[in-house]
Order: sequence, then C-alpha cells, then structure tokens
Amino acid sequence: MIEARGISKRFVKMPDLAARIAGRLGADVHEETVHALDGVNIDIARGEVVGLVGESGCGKSTFGRIVAGIMEPTEGAILYRGRDLKTLQGAEAREAALQVQMIFQDPFASLNPRMRVEDIVGEAPLLHGIVAKRERSEYIDATMRRVGLDPTFKRRYPHQFSGGQRQRIGIARALAVKPEFLVCDEAVAALDVSIQAQVLNLFMDLRQDLDLTYLFISHDLSVVEHISDRVVIMYLGRVVESSPTEPLFAEPNHPYTKALLAGAPTLDARRRIYEPVRGEIPSPLDPPTGCHFHPRCRHAMARCREEAPALKEVAPGRHSACHLNDS
Ligand SMILES: Nc1ncnc2c1ncn2[C@@H]1O[C@H](COP(=O)(O)OP(=O)(O)OP(=O)(O)O)[C@@H](O)[C@H]1O
Ligand code: SF4
Ligand SMILES: [Mg+2]
Repeated sequence: MIEARGISKRFVKMPDLAARIAGRLGADVHEETVHALDGVNIDIARGEVVGLVGESGCGKSTFGRIVAGIMEPTEGAILYRGRDLKTLQGAEAREAALQVQMIFQDPFASLNPRMRVEDIVGEAPLLHGIVAKRERSEYIDATMRRVGLDPTFKRRYPHQFSGGQRQRIGIARALAVKPEFLVCDEAVAALDVSIQAQVLNLFMDLRQDLDLTYLFISHDLSVVEHISDRVVIMYLGRVVESSPTEPLFAEPNHPYTKALLAGAPTLDARRRIYEPVRGEIPSPLDPPTGCHFHPRCRHAMARCREEAPALKEVAPGRHSACHLNDS
C-alpha cells in the first residue's frame, strides 16, 4: 500500500535573534541543518500494522507526516498504491489525502475546542460528499458508536470528555472520511496505562472490522509489541532494524534494539519496563560519522566510526544495519 523510497528530510535552522545579534558582534554564526531523516525505505503492505520505534528526535513524526502527505521530503518519494503521491492531481490527490489519515498524541490540541463533537466528526464527510445532509446525523451516531462513544453526547464540546474519550473523538473524526491507512503518532502516549490498553484494543478492533492498515509510531516498545505485525527501529534518522514483531522481541539483532529491549524485569510479566539506553542521544545537527550508534555501542570497532552499515537481510524478512553481521 505504501512504499517509502529513500526518504531524506533536512530542516535548515536559521539563526535566531540572539544568534544574529551575536553574529553582528563578531561571533561565528551560520545556519544549521538538522538531518531528521536519512535515506529511509519502509514498505507497508495492505492490512499490515507496522510499528515505528526510536528515541525522541530520531525522526518518527517527520516520517509519519511525510507518509501522510502533509510534509514534503527533501529527497525520495512516497508511493501510495504504486503511484508517487507528488504526481497525483485533482480528484485523485484529494482522494489519496482522505484515504490516509493521521492521529496525533494530544487529542486536546488537535480538536477545535469551540466545535461540538457532531461537527468535529461530521464536518469532513459532508464537505467531501461522503454523506448527504439528511444522512449526516445518523452517520455521526454510527461513527461515534463505532469508536465506543455514546451518540447522546454528540452536542457536547471536547473539554466535556475525558482524555481517553477525546482520543476516541479524534479517531472518529479520522474514520468519518473512510480512510484505509492510518498514521498514529504517539496516539496513546498521553493516556493513563489502563486507558492506553482500551484505546489500543479499539485500534485492533477497527483494523479487523474496517480492514485498516496502520503505521503506529511510538517511543514505547510495550505499546507497539501488542499491536504490530512488524517493527521498524529507527536511530537518528536511519532505519537500523526491521523485523516481524515476535522474533524482534525474542532475538533482537541490532545492538541498539538490544539496548532498547534491555529493561528491568517487573513483577507483572505482562508489562515490561523498558529503561532508557545508556549515553546521550547525539545531535541530529551533527550526527556521528559511520554508524550513528557507535558512540553508545558496546561493540563499536574502528570500522564503525568510518563506514555506515547498510541494512542487510539477517534472516527471512528480517533486516539489520550492523557491521557485526559481516563477521
Ligand atoms: N519543523 C521543523 N523544523 C526544524 N527542525 C525540526 C522540525 N520538525 C522536526 N525537527 C527536528 O527533526 C528531528 C526529528 O524530529 P521528530 O519530531 O521527527 O522526532 P520524533 O522521533 O518524532 O521525536 P519525539 O519522540 O520526541 O516525538 C529533531 O531533531 C527535531 O528537532
Ligand atoms: S555497526 Fe558497529 S557501532 Fe554500529 S551497532 Fe554495529 S557494532 Fe555497534
Ligand atoms: Mg514525534
């Protein structure tokens, strides 16, 4: 359904006011480039749930926005059903834009506080001719029920709902335009653990019932473990490992994946606690040479500082980018 081909994204950071003043006083000030994504290839098959994981700032949201078509890559292309999103025009472009919807972390920030739920959910389908005016009310009720919301509350405003219910409103709004692919960016991160489980279950039910495909972005491995068929691990703008979920958790290949997975055992075996990886995340303004992970890797060799490892198949359907796989 989705093929991301060699996606790179660079943000040029202009000097801010303080820096410009410093520059006028003789300091060496110049614009800086953030390397948010560097040659990312990810394919997502129809019906598949792909989890995208990595530490803060590794480029997950940037990739999600590019896949959803709301941000342009600096290099590379997104093929949607085999066709480059950039080349679509007119009705085709509008249709693709509806087919791919994004769900964000903070439902409060992404819902208009002055709109009633019925308008939040019902606006886009009416605008795009998905429902006729006289069917609108019934359609809103059905969509609300679909995500576990009581339609008798449809005249209320977002602040009158709990966090979990607000996320359901966000999901209802996305579903209302009948998408086939959802990019969920930290969609449960802001919720309490018990509510997280309920919303994750909703995502899984919707997938079954509506035949949806997901890119599920999370910094939390325990979230993607339960929902994903395949997990892609990113580090500083590059994919370091990609694997079906079970073997990834049972036998991670990449030292970074291993570090992410090495968490403290808990009394409750159902919920592992993952600890932060040792060492600091390097700046994407000036990424390390060779393998980006080498300053934090226990196995780093001379070669790792010079040569970036390519993603290679290490087992059927499993890819990893580490020089250890060559020895
Ligand atoms: N619009 C922008 N302008 C400049 N830099 C940006 C912009 N958006 C993202 N970045 C930078 O690109 C890098 C990747 O950011 P991104 O938000 O994609 O990371 P992330 O993996 O989603 O992080 P988090 O887990 O914190 O959400 C970061 O260094 C970020 O500061
Ligand atoms: S390539 Fe080298 S530094 Fe990078 S993860 Fe593998 S062993 Fe570690
Ligand atoms: Mg993000």
